[in-house]
Amino acid sequence: MTPDVRPLVAGNWKMNGLKAATSEIADLRDAVGRGENGAAEIAVCPPATLIAAAAQAIAGGGIALGGQDCHAKASGAFTGDISAEMLKDAGCAYVIVGHSERRAGHGEGDAEVKAKAQAALAAGLTAIVCVGETRAQRDAGEAMTVVSGQVRGSLPEGASAANVVIAYEPVWAIGTGLTPTADDVAAMHRSIRLLLGELIGAEGARTRILYGGSVKPANARELLGLPDVDGALVGGASLKAADFLAIAAAYR
Ligand code: 13P
Repeated sequence: MTPDVRPLVAGNWKMNGLKAATSEIADLRDAVGRGENGAAEIAVCPPATLIAAAAQAIAGGGIALGGQDCHAKASGAFTGDISAEMLKDAGCAYVIVGHSERRAGHGEGDAEVKAKAQAALAAGLTAIVCVGETRAQRDAGEAMTVVSGQVRGSLPEGASAANVVIAYEPVWAIGTGLTPTADDVAAMHRSIRLLLGELIGAEGARTRILYGGSVKPANARELLGLPDVDGALVGGASLKAADFLAIAAAYR
C-alpha cells in the first residue's frame, strides 16, 4: 500500500461471461453499497458484449467499469475493433491495455500498447497498462530489465496518477496458481515506482501499481499489503462476486 493512495481492485473477466453473469455485477454493486470493499475502489472489466448491461447494473452504485482492450484510433475502418471513445460512451472509466494475452496472442508490442494508452487518455479513460516478464526471462535474471523496458515503452505522453494505472502481471503467474514471492513482488513494484518517478516526477509516487497473477482470497492479504502494491488486477477469481469481494476485503 502507498499512503494516501486509494487502492484499486479490478476484475478482468477476459473472454468469460454471458448475460446471466450480469447478476454478479449487480451483487458487487450491492456489496459495495454495504461498504464491503473497505478502502478499495472496485472496477470490473467484462467482455465488450456485457458492458452495456453492466453499465445498467451498476447505475448509481459505487463501482467502475472498464474495457479489456481498445484500438489506437478513435474511429474508422477497423472491423471487429472497439475504440476508447466507444468504451467511454458505453459507461467505462478504465481500459486495460497491453495485457500479456494481447501482447502474446495478438503480437502487440510496446509502441502499439502506448498508442492504445494514448487513445484511452484522449477519450478520458484511465489506462491500466499491463507489464510482466515470462518465466524464461525471470529465470535468466531479466525480469526487472524486461518490465522497465515495457513501462518506458508503453507509458503514454501526459501520464499521471489520475489517468494511468500500472499492472504488474508476471506472465507465468497468470492463471497458473503460481505467484512470485512477496519479496520479489515488492522488489518489482519498488523498481516500477522508482522508474515512474524518473519518467513522470511527483505523479509517479501516487500512481497506482497493481499486482496481477493468481490473486485469490487466500493470498490477497499478503500480496496487497506489500509496500508499493496499490491493488490487484484479478482474472479467474473476479468472475464470482463473493471471491472478488473476499480479495477486496484485504482493504477492510
Ligand atoms: P488470474 O487472476 O486468473 O491469474 O489472471 C490474472 C490476469 O491476467 C488479470 O489480468
